[in-house]
Amino acid sequence: MRNAVLGLVIGMLMLCPITSTAGGEHQRRFSVELALVAGDARLLLTEKEMSPVQRDWIEARLHNSVNLLPLLARYYLQESGKTDAALIESLEKLQHLFHELQPLYDHAQSLAYQYPINFHAEITQSLSEEEKSQSAEIYLQLCQRCHLVPGIEKSVVFGELGSFARSMRPDEWLARMIGGLRGDSYTSYENPFSDIQISLLFRYIRDEMP
Ligand code: HEC
Repeated sequence: MRNAVLGLVIGMLMLCPITSTAGGEHQRRFSVELALVAGDARLLLTEKEMSPVQRDWIEARLHNSVNLLPLLARYYLQESGKTDAALIESLEKLQHLFHELQPLYDHAQSLAYQYPINFHAEITQSLSEEEKSQSAEIYLQLCQRCHLVPGIEKSVVFGELGSFARSMRPDEWLARMIGGLRGDSYTSYENPFSDIQISLLFRYIRDEMP
């Protein structure tokens, strides 16, 4: 009995750090999608070089994201043991705003401020020489083959990846880096990269690439 209680206590102690770091996956997924909604609405509002095919594609993507948000919010609330009817209502309001881009952007952006992405690695400092070559290697191995030619039709990426990264706020770039790296067809939406790797690629593309 005593051992069982002790085991339970130790078990709980061991679980705590795990839940506080590994937990929040749904929260992250939700915040990333929110920032992507704001970011894609921003692109539709401001990007001049958009072909009709690209506009259709981005609108379809935005539409899906807006419809997905209430579900992602429910997962997030469930995960953190909260109830927040106002948040769900607020997200349903986004769905009604779908055909008015500016209010959609304003509303999504203000929600994105309230629910920032929980990310645990450095993204402000520039890379050391060693980190630069490490990141260049990852980029070369895993990204370059698809991103060598800028601007395919069904893409939210405008121009070269580096200038695209510099054209937006850091939180939007972070959301694109987390949400856009989809792994393969097996991992589906799951981003296979650690925060450290994302932070390297985030800064490498923003600071070192054309
Ligand atoms: C198999 C081809 C392929 C590989 C490999 C690839 N990408 Fe992409 N990437 C794409 C395509 C296609 C898009 C545009 C469509 C989209 O957004 O889903 C894209 C979009 C992106 C975006 C914008 C995402 C968004 O949703 O806003 C970022 C950022 C990005 N890629 C970074 C990377 C990085 C960094 C790597 C390497 C770790 C990488 N990609 C590897 C094909 C690829």
